[in-house]
Amino acid sequence: MPSLSLNGKSILLVISGGIAAYKSLELIRLIKKSGGSVRCVLTKGGEQFTTPLSVATLSEEQVYTDIWSLKDETEIGHIRLSREADLVVIAPASANMIAKLAHGIADDLASTALLASDKPLLIAPAMNHVMWENPATQDNIKTLQNRGILQIDPGTGDMACGEFGMGRMAEPEEIFGAILGFFNEEKPLSGLTALVTSGPTYEPLDPVRFIGNRSSGKQGHAIAEALATQGADVTLVTGPVALPDPAGVKTIHVETAVEMLETCHKALPADIAVCAAAVSDWSATTIMSRKIKKRGDRIPPDLKLKENPDILAMLARPAPKRPALVIGFAAETENLIEAAQEKRQNKGCDWIIANNVGSTEKIFGADENHVYLITENGAEEWKRTSKKVVAKKLADQIADHFLTQKTQIAAE
Ligand code: CTP
Repeated sequence: MPSLSLNGKSILLVISGGIAAYKSLELIRLIKKSGGSVRCVLTKGGEQFTTPLSVATLSEEQVYTDIWSLKDETEIGHIRLSREADLVVIAPASANMIAKLAHGIADDLASTALLASDKPLLIAPAMNHVMWENPATQDNIKTLQNRGILQIDPGTGDMACGEFGMGRMAEPEEIFGAILGFFNEEKPLSGLTALVTSGPTYEPLDPVRFIGNRSSGKQGHAIAEALATQGADVTLVTGPVALPDPAGVKTIHVETAVEMLETCHKALPADIAVCAAAVSDWSATTIMSRKIKKRGDRIPPDLKLKENPDILAMLARPAPKRPALVIGFAAETENLIEAAQEKRQNKGCDWIIANNVGSTEKIFGADENHVYLITENGAEEWKRTSKKVVAKKLADQIADHFLTQKTQIAAE
């Protein structure tokens, strides 16, 4: 067994119906022992072969079984179940579960959570050898393989049903080894650290009111997650948002621009900095300790504001701890490319992701974005697509940048 760990990694384990479900208990034990956390979903079939109580005891987590459970849905919900995991594992994956997965059927909690998942998936098939060899199952397996799903082949041997053949679920140690391999494989950004800012900042005026910017944090959070998926060690510094913390990312919550700046400084050194936060440009010179009351003369209070520190510019200025690649955002309403190019030079950052917030396209709070990547070589348009795809493209571009640098250094 390799001496690698699953520290900080969370796994969603789906246990479907099959005698091999007893082996899943050992798998849970191995994951926990190596520092990982594991949340389990049991199908109705799975419940016939192992009990929610044994699964809950070993995983030290609540076990999820029912899509119609009001308690489970309000507390976590079938969407968040997979979204909060770094990897989804189905062990045992029954013939029925594999068929549902291949055809997008969502008729219980497990299959619904799987259809709503955007996380990598590893399956450990387990069934009678004739079921395994059946062309229907083999076609389904091919469909899943074409989708990039990871699979641990079943073994050959005596089956619980008394027959002999291929279909026995791989041993828990082997499945655990595949999980370790997944997390420890060399990825394009392995060994690099990244700092990402996201969300708005809130600048208090009094205990009740604040000045803030529009920002859902969706783009910044997606970037943090995409960088982590590519292997970077990511710290996300976020203002107040209504989003869950991305999986596999160290997330620090702040409120004001000054707090965000201080937290960013503490997170240095980093190889990559991406400033996606919509930082408020101003804050009140004095924060009133009591609520500002209307005076009755209809004259609004004379608010005195001061300029906030520019976090992007501070991170980008020449300094020993300056990240090798500093990327900012530019929300512009006119002359998008020129204004963004100017902003890139004024702030001293390397790249800018520019978007036109003055057009009729909805950007704030939307799931999609239409951006331009501005570098010293010019502008490249990324047509309207999901913020997750924008994040993935940016992470790919960052990985290419570091790979080119590495190749150049090696060639010198
Ligand atoms: N930014 C920052 N700190 C600030 C203001 C902005 O880090 N105090 C960063 C944002 O995270 C973004 C970039 O600067 O990456 C550009 O933000 P934008 O609002 O477009 O520009 P401003 O600097 O605020 O300039 P202006 O509003 O005048 O266009």
